[in-house]
This record gives sequence, C-alpha cells and structure tokens, in this order.
Amino acid sequence: MTSTPVTTLTIRDDLPARAISPDLWGVFFEDINHAADGGLYAELVQNRSFAYSHADHHGWGPLTAWRRHGRVEIHHTTPLSDRSPNYVRLFGDHGPAWIANDGFDGILIEAGGDYDVTVFARTGEGASARLTLSLETTGGATQCSLVVDQPQWTRYRTRMTGPASAADAAFRLEVANGETVDVGYASVMPVDTFRRTPNGLRSDLAQAIADIRPRFARFPGGCVAHGLGLDNLYRWKGTIGDPHERHQDFNLWGYHQSMGLGYFEYFLFCEQIGATPLPILAAGVCCQNLVGGPDAVPLDQLDAYIQDVLDLVEFANGGLDTPWGSRRAELGHPAPFGLRYLGLGNEDKIDATFRNRFEAIFRRVREAHPEIEVVGTAGPSPFGSDYDNGWEFARELGVDVVDEHMYKSPKWFFENTGRYDSYDRSGPHVYVGEYGSWGNRLLNALAEAAFMTGLERNGDVVRLASYAPLLAKKGHTQWVPDLIYFDNERVLPSLNYFVQQLFARTAGTASVQVEVDSPPGYTRPAQGTARLAFQSSGLDVRFENVALDDHQVDDVILSPDGRFETPTSTSADEYTIRATATVLSGDAEGNFAVQFGALGSGDSFEWNFGSWRNRSLTAFVSWDGFRDELLEPRPFRTEIGRPYEIEIRVSDRGHDIEYRLDGEVVQHFRDAGLAENRFSVSVVADSATPRTTVRIVNATDAPRKVAIVNASGRRADLTGAVTLSGEWDAGDAFEPAPCQPQPVEVAGSELTVPAFSFTVADV
Ligand code: AHR
Repeated sequence: MTSTPVTTLTIRDDLPARAISPDLWGVFFEDINHAADGGLYAELVQNRSFAYSHADHHGWGPLTAWRRHGRVEIHHTTPLSDRSPNYVRLFGDHGPAWIANDGFDGILIEAGGDYDVTVFARTGEGASARLTLSLETTGGATQCSLVVDQPQWTRYRTRMTGPASAADAAFRLEVANGETVDVGYASVMPVDTFRRTPNGLRSDLAQAIADIRPRFARFPGGCVAHGLGLDNLYRWKGTIGDPHERHQDFNLWGYHQSMGLGYFEYFLFCEQIGATPLPILAAGVCCQNLVGGPDAVPLDQLDAYIQDVLDLVEFANGGLDTPWGSRRAELGHPAPFGLRYLGLGNEDKIDATFRNRFEAIFRRVREAHPEIEVVGTAGPSPFGSDYDNGWEFARELGVDVVDEHMYKSPKWFFENTGRYDSYDRSGPHVYVGEYGSWGNRLLNALAEAAFMTGLERNGDVVRLASYAPLLAKKGHTQWVPDLIYFDNERVLPSLNYFVQQLFARTAGTASVQVEVDSPPGYTRPAQGTARLAFQSSGLDVRFENVALDDHQVDDVILSPDGRFETPTSTSADEYTIRATATVLSGDAEGNFAVQFGALGSGDSFEWNFGSWRNRSLTAFVSWDGFRDELLEPRPFRTEIGRPYEIEIRVSDRGHDIEYRLDGEVVQHFRDAGLAENRFSVSVVADSATPRTTVRIVNATDAPRKVAIVNASGRRADLTGAVTLSGEWDAGDAFEPAPCQPQPVEVAGSELTVPAFSFTVADV
C-alpha cells in the first residue's frame, strides 16, 4: 500500500507580513456579449427608441426586434430628441395598426409581477387617440389604454401587471381604426430590479456580481471605453440623465448601446455592492485595432476633452455648489460617490500620438485632483513593445498604477505565479486589469487560482486585479470564455467565478510568508512525434517545395477554409519545415497557416500569415488544447501572387523555435524556462479578525496530504475549509458549473487536498 505523500506548509509568523492592497479583488464590466442591453440593464424592450441601424449590425434598422401590423411608418422629421432620431407612426386608417416587441430573445414576465411602462407619444393637432398597451403571453394578456391627445411629445407612465409567467412574452402598442399616433420611445422595466432601483439592473445578475464581493468595479471597458473611431469614443456625459436623451451608439462588438446603463447607474451599482468605482476613460485616442490605425482627439479639441475628464471627477465627488456635483444631486444622489481611481486608456498603442494626449490629460488631472490615483495602460499583452513602452512611459510620468492585460493559456498562468515577485516596489503599482486562461474547465480555474496566489503574495505592488470579461449572454457572445454566463432566465456562474469569489470573500489585509516543503512537482509529458499541416481561411493557397526534414511532400493546394495534414511525421525533438506559399486569390481579410507539433493529440504550434483580419503574422501555440499567442504578433499583410519562403526550425523539443521568412529570422521563441507551478500556496491574515486563511492550489493529478505548522513548529488548528475539485477537463462555457466549493471536514493540523483542487482553509 502506498501512503499519500505529505507536504508541509510552515507559516512564517516570525517574519514581517506584507500589507495587501485593500482593493485587490474586483470585477471588470464591459458591454461585450450583450452584457448591458439584454443583460445587466433590466430594460425588457429591445430597440425601445427605434434607433437601431446598420451601423450597429448588418441588416438592422429602426424596426429591428419589432413586429408590425397595418400601416406603420418610420419618420425622422421632428423626433423626440436628437439622440432618438426615429419615431414610428401608427396609422389606423385601414383598421388597427400595431407594433409588438419581442425583447431580447423574448420578454420574461412573472405572473403578478409589476412592470413600469414608459411611452413617449403624440398625435395630430386637435386630435385624440387611444393607444392600447398589452403585455402578451400565451397564458393571457394584460392591457391598459392611454389617451394621447397632445401634438407635442408627451411622456406617459403606467404600471402593468404580468398576466402569466412566460419567457417569450411580447409588448404591443396598438391604435384603433381611424386614429393615428406617433411613438418615439416605449420601455418596460420590471419594478423588481436590483435593490428596486428605477432604471435599474436585472436582480439575479447583479446579485451574482455582488456575491463575489468585489472591492472595485471597472467600467465601461475594455475596448468599448475608447471605441472604434472618434465618434464612437465613450463620452460619459452622453450616458446620464433621462434615458431617451442619452447618446446611443454602435457597439464595436457588433450591436447597439442604448446607454440606459450609463455612468450614473455604474456609480450607483458600485455603491450598492460596496465596490470602489474604477471608470476607464479613453486617453484621447481610440482603439488601436481600427483599420488604418487609431484616431486621436485633435490637439485643438484636447482642452475640451480634458475638461470632460475633470468634470467626471466633479460629477462623482463634487460638492452641491459645483455644476456637476449639483447635476449628480438632480439625478437623485446628493452624496458624493467617493471616486478614488481614474483609468486613462486601454491597451493603446504607445506611440507619440498617445503619449502627448495621455500626458496632457494626466498632468491636468494630477494638478486639479491630486487625491485621484490615475491608472495608465501597458498594451494588450503581458510582454512586447506596448507593454515595455507603456511601463517606461508610466514610470517617466509618475503614473500611480499601470493596467496590464493577459489572456493566456493555463500553462502560462502556472508558469507566472512568481511574475510579480521581482516587480519594482518603488515605481507605479500594478493593475492586472484583464486576465483569463482561455477556458472554463477546472484546469483554467485552477491556473487562475494559482496565478492569484502570486498576486496576493505580492499584494503590496499589485493594487487591483479583475478577470475579464465578466458577463456573456447565451447566443450573443463575441468573446468566450467569460466569468458568468446567462440567458433571460438563468445565471450560470463558471468554475472561474467560484475561484474569484473564494479569493474576494476571504481577502486579507496582509500576506504572511509561507514555506512549502516537498510540493508535488509537475513535468509536462514529452511529445514523441511531430506532424505537419496547412490551413487556409478565406484564401486559395498553393504550397510548394514542402519538406519536413528530408521528407519531401507533394505540392498542396488549399481552397478557402481548407486544411490538409501531410502524411509525413518525424521525431518531435528537433526538425525543420520548409515550404513556399503563394496566395492565389481570396478574401482580403483571409489568412493561411502552417501547423506543426503533436497535432490533435497534445501541444502543437501554428504560424499564421494574416491573422487579425490580415494584419498580423502570429505564432500561436496550443498547450493542453488551449490556444495562445506564443510571441507578440508582427504587423503583416498577405499579398496575392507573392511567394513566401517559409522555414521553421524547431529544436530542444519545441523549447526553441526559429521562424524564418524569405531567409530571415522574423520571430524567435525561446522558452523562458519557467517551471509550471502546479502546487501553489498563499496565506493571508486579516487585521479585523483573528483569522488566517491558507489557500492551496493542487493542479496535479494526485491528492496531497498537507500539514500546516507555524514558525516555531506548533501545529496549526484548522477550523474549517472549502474545496473546489473535480476532473481537470470538467466545466464548459454556457453550462452550469459541474462542481462548486464544498465544505471539507477538518480537525487538527492536516488536511488532504484532492487532485485538481483549490482549497481555502482557516487556521
Ligand atoms: O475583455 C475583452 C476585450 O479584451 C477588452 O475589450 C479589451 O480591452 C481586451 O482586448
């Protein structure tokens, strides 16, 4: 019989502990994956002011999400507001005319539930018309009538009751035979929003976020914060006040932003859940992924832009004697919101245009509001040119905190648990603003937990951290994985969510040093055989002179979206691939790739020509089946008819890869030699309680007995523990989590942490 090996954790209570940022664990909210309209924002009517257009999404228009009957016309001559430019005219001249809204995949109605209905309507001079409103379900309908007798836009408010419970209800507005009404806006809001707040948030989703107990909430993005083009840059002033007056816009993720969830609602939500607000404003430049490069606020308009930034601080914190402080009071919140952080920029290209805008905004904010801590940006990746330049620039200016982003494989997170151990303590602090390990399996959740133990151990220099993205609506996603999936009826927190919650709910004030004696090791299985394949997306491509080492392969011709795996293979230790690739024709945004390594069965690689809509040359990798970028992508564009001489030299079992194009090394991967830390630990104390919390991530395939002692050798007294554990590949996007944290019986100073588990224990 073999006994379970024992790992000893020695809590070094004899050494000084490190203070941990009280704001460390937070959430990142962006309107991506229909997180706002149709998601967290409780509005049940989709396209309530008929403002959808093809700029939002191909084929969309003012009547998207509405059905119509009878004579229904769209007009724009005298709209309700500049910001709701279309309205609907219902003519009952040939019998009744109606429009009916199906919400966002149906309207969810509860029998007996209360719904606040708001309609802006008008009729002709001297006329009077009856507008019948119905909440319709297959189990019945409730109705009420409005008498519309004003020629100018008039707001009508009424409360309706849900006739029956239904997920596919509709909201109908109808005029009778012979009458005419203009409708500019039609809204149905449940009264039972989160904390019953008017113009509020969907209760169950908001509660799921609150249940994490985040210390801060970042909003409104992400890329949404700086937008695709200057006109799409997120301007906070356009998102407050009466919902029909808000500046609606296309959402760069492919749909529409009503801005019903705007800055006032964000601040209020933060206050309601006890999270400090972290707004991210564009640093005067828009998204670097804009075709043709980022646009910037012209220098002669920069002062006005900076004033908007300063006004936001006043809106959040200003006294009632200030213009924006009194605006906040008018909106119903006289007390300040207690803004402490302000983010400037998101994943921007750190070039001269960015620098001069950022610097001008930063200096004015610093001068006017030295109490506000500014969060700068260091590009989209945890390494590379924007990362290096962003950090250098932030140090030069004395920015308080720098936002780093990392969407990487579980392997990367296991390798980077010590990333912040050596970060400079005298410079800006770190905001790990967006991170996630490309999946919702247990291995992903454990990789993130392992990384988070490193953030916590370095909670003196890592000020803030937030997983991204937060929300994703089933059937409407642009980005997977996410933390919380949902549809109209269900909220499905992922395994990754429970990791976030376990950290945030037991956050400590100090990180206690810990020694780990005999942790289980981990060695990545070696890949014996390498194979070679070619793939095309949207292109006709010819590959000639193909060879894997000395094995020649016949020419390969791929049609768009084709893939061909060559019949050759070789030892994975060391090999060279050669091919001449020529794009014959196809989509201007297409790409082709050379794939190699243990294809389909383990770790494999891809060199992609024209990724990111034909803008990059990217070396991808797939570790444990999770795709990742191996190196910073290089700007690149494929050209039709031009032969590309490709050579890839793999050595040291894939730890060293040279990527050559036309005889030159254009990319080179050399494994940094970081060990995958599959067993990681952090210990935190909380000054407000006698509690010490021990976190143990065991991402190996064997259980481990753990003994906990203090520095003088005294055995710890375990008082409780919870464990999240299961099969490493269990869990998936859009599915209920296969397991949740479970209490574990503990007594004395030892516990067994299961294979593939995350345990949080109190001593
Ligand atoms: O979280 C999704 C996106 O990832 C964010 O909008 C952007 O900042 C990052 O590239």
